[in-house]
Amino acid sequence: MARRRRIFEGKAKVLFEGPEPGTLVQYFKDDASAYNNKKIGVITGKGVLNNRISEYLMSQLNEIGVPTHFVRRLNMREQLVREVEIIPIEVVVRNIVAGSLSKRFNMAEGTALPRSIVEYYYKAGDMDDPLVTEEHITAFGWATPQDLDEIMSLALRVNDFLSGLFLGVGIRLVDFKLEFGRLWEGEQMRIVLADEISPDSCRLWDLRTNEKMDKDRFRRDLGNVEEAYQEVARRLGILPEGGPSDFKGPTLMQ
Ligand code: TMP
Repeated sequence: MARRRRIFEGKAKVLFEGPEPGTLVQYFKDDASAYNNKKIGVITGKGVLNNRISEYLMSQLNEIGVPTHFVRRLNMREQLVREVEIIPIEVVVRNIVAGSLSKRFNMAEGTALPRSIVEYYYKAGDMDDPLVTEEHITAFGWATPQDLDEIMSLALRVNDFLSGLFLGVGIRLVDFKLEFGRLWEGEQMRIVLADEISPDSCRLWDLRTNEKMDKDRFRRDLGNVEEAYQEVARRLGILPEGGPSDFKGPTLMQ
């Protein structure tokens, strides 16, 4: 097989040139990093699980009309996506206090927020991805006010939909990070959801026990990281238990 051109290699994924112009192949690695690469490790099987979980969540979002870069899953570790111009902002939506919000305001993790909070971080590893305001984003030209209106509205729609989806399988969506890109169709530009949505980019807590089912297990050395990712996939009904054709539906909670 001809070697594909590698476009970009990140911490957890590699992007290759796709089969047609305007497409890319997104390859999910088992590599994990945290605290801006200060902690590095491998979570065996993570790439396969994140590929499948992200496929499922992006497809569900596509179905309700949220535009995404996702086209289709190609194999266990790869998916075909549309090539977009990534907006260099990480959009974090929070429903419950955790992580950096808990540290910044010295608030207990687990405190429910009276309304969802949307935060923006500038994607710049050498600056530790600083928290930025809309003023920074528009003044520095990373996105226009119109782009930000669209991003905020999509982020809140994603939050409403995913909160309900996860609640249905006994999981609390504590917070998550999204990335967006510009998709050009001729002269027309659309903002679409890009990157991935997986336990690497979300905080997911068991509804009954508050047990963490996401990358915090790796960040905080809690163990059973792969098992937690598997459990998320199992609850969503997308973990093949008896072979690839044995996809069960979601496990609904009473
Ligand atoms: P934080 O509490 O560390 O700011 O993280 C908020 C959410 O964003 C959490 O679900 C993890 C996710 N996240 C990423 O996916 N990538 C990142 O680089 C960071 C800092 C957070």
